[in-house]
Amino acid sequence: MQVLAGKRQTVPPVWLMRQAGRYLPEYRALRQKIGNFLDLCLDPKLAAEVTLQPIRRFGFDAAILFSDILVVPYALGQNIAFTAVDGPRLDAIGDAEGLCKIRNELDHERLAPVYETIARVKNELPPDCTLLGFCGAPWTLATYMIAGAGTPDQIPAREFAYRAPQSFRELLNILIEASASYLIRQFEAGVDAVQIFDTWAGVLPDDEFDRCCIEPCARIVAAVRARMPNAKFIGFPRGAGSRLKRYMDAVGVDAVGLDWTIDFAFARDEVQRRKPVQGNLDPVVLLVGGRSLDHSIDRIMENFKAGPFIFNLGHGVLPDTPIAHVERLVARVRGAGLREQPPHV
Ligand code: CP3
Repeated sequence: MQVLAGKRQTVPPVWLMRQAGRYLPEYRALRQKIGNFLDLCLDPKLAAEVTLQPIRRFGFDAAILFSDILVVPYALGQNIAFTAVDGPRLDAIGDAEGLCKIRNELDHERLAPVYETIARVKNELPPDCTLLGFCGAPWTLATYMIAGAGTPDQIPAREFAYRAPQSFRELLNILIEASASYLIRQFEAGVDAVQIFDTWAGVLPDDEFDRCCIEPCARIVAAVRARMPNAKFIGFPRGAGSRLKRYMDAVGVDAVGLDWTIDFAFARDEVQRRKPVQGNLDPVVLLVGGRSLDHSIDRIMENFKAGPFIFNLGHGVLPDTPIAHVERLVARVRGAGLREQPPHV
């Protein structure tokens, strides 16, 4: 929270996207007993437990609510299932007509378990650990809702946006309203700050980036702040590149998440000079570990040490990541690793 207020910390706080999940044996053990992933997201006792698992194991500085961005389409009436092999499956919106099946407003009854999870976690979390809520950005949600699944290039949603611009706008409008009211409820339930995940922002052409990423996210932030002027936001428009500058000014987030492909000098001189940044270790190097991991951590720490910074990955933890590598990361970020290094290295 200090960093989000613009205050640089000598030792940066650290948490990881997807820190609760399949790389943890205690998550896999619990997950085995629940057939349906959505049932896990919507069980407050279990979702709270999973949220806390990585905090107990690694002592991260922030916990992120265990849920999924796709609970929003679910609360808009879209059928959704998570398959073990292919990821999420939704009833694809497909064309303009398919949009009629979506509700205009969130069914907060369906999301009540999420709010209860937040309250439970808040109660059990150490006082110095920040609780983060989140939502998917409208564009990223739309890519799943339109295609009915994850796609490598988001072509179904891009095609829909060109073919049926009015319907596409209507969908974004519904998602903007829904996301704002969802985040307001999360703050009311007890989160300290929220992150907006725009995982597929990077595929948008420049003008569409303004219309589909920046404007919807700006409207969400404004709508939440109209009710809660001090609401804190981290924006994560993955793949935005040099458009991050425009994004952070127009959206009004308190900090931006950087993916691992960003130009280091640009991120430091053009972005961090104006806003706190979070990121941006390549999840693959965390999987690999060893000296590559140490080198990558050190390089990131060096690059961002002069300003407000939160250590994180550039995207989520990969399921095969060894626990020992995560322990090594936390120790190194907090300084222990550096001291343990033999003098000749
Ligand atoms: O630890 C955390 O970060 C909190 C929980 C969280 C999950 N998903 C749990 C999850 C968060 C913040 C998300 C966000 C999310 N979900 C995003 C945005 C961030 C990103 O990773 O790009 C997206 C695009 C989704 C949609 C989604 N959920 C997909 C595409 C998949 C399948 C791919 C995969 O990784 O399995 C999921 C499933 C999912 N969400 C799992 C978890 C732990 C694995 C499901 C399982 O355990 O069976």
